[in-house]
Amino acid sequence: MKIAVIGTGHMGAGFVRELVGRGADVIIGARSAAKAEALAAELGGKPRVADIAAAVQAADVILLALPYGVIAETLAGLKGLAGKVLVDLSNPVTADFQELLLGTDTSAAEAIQAAAPGATVVKAFNTIFAQLLPSEARKDRSLQVFVAADDAAAKGRVQELARLLGFDAVDAGPLRSSRFLEPVGGMNIHFGYFLGWGPTAAPRWERT
Ligand SMILES: NC(=O)c1ccc[n+]([C@@H]2O[C@H](COP(=O)([O-])OP(=O)(O)OC[C@H]3O[C@@H](n4cnc5c(N)ncnc54)[C@H](OP(=O)(O)O)[C@@H]3O)[C@@H](O)[C@H]2O)c1
Repeated sequence: MKIAVIGTGHMGAGFVRELVGRGADVIIGARSAAKAEALAAELGGKPRVADIAAAVQAADVILLALPYGVIAETLAGLKGLAGKVLVDLSNPVTADFQELLLGTDTSAAEAIQAAAPGATVVKAFNTIFAQLLPSEARKDRSLQVFVAADDAAAKGRVQELARLLGFDAVDAGPLRSSRFLEPVGGMNIHFGYFLGWGPTAAPRWERT
């Protein structure tokens, strides 16, 4: 599986470090070549670096580690999205992280799918804080990653990716389950940053 990580912020850099550490074939795509080169250099030059368009072209699975508000416009400028798996991690929240920008009758994931109709969007990782991407930050914990998609093969690949990173990859149903997962991500932010739990909070579904 060739994986592109788009963005070098908290989530993007976290994914790149963990994936490279586990031997994955990773290419970093970023608008800032300097930030991407610095991240690659930190990792001994192992991940390749490209602009966003070239990174997307080179990969099968693309982690969109970008703010929700810029994803559609970023995808609009890209060619060759057909057949690609786009992983939407986003929590579509206001700048103060207090409110969702959309929901109930749609979701960020569905809006991204509409913006890239030839690709297959998979929702995952939106309930995992960046601070929990390093495996040493979650030792002794089994954290669930909820994976929602309409295409079973694409969902399976993202579940495989989540398992490679040491997460419990839970099948959360079709892409429209994002209408439920995104408010859960919002609640997690609320626990983490406004109710005093801190950024190691994570939701977990249990059954007997
Ligand atoms: N942080 C978390 O704990 C967390 C948890 C779950 C889900 N998420 C979701 O993950 C996504 C990324 O969050 P983050 O915390 O990693 O954000 P971040 O640290 O602010 O990083 C955002 C990245 O997006 C890039 N970017 C911003 N605007 C862009 C544009 N117009 N074109 C191209 N690149 C652009 C930034 O590039 P520059 O460096 O050049 O500005 C940066 O690399 C968001 O959708 C968020 O909701 C975050």
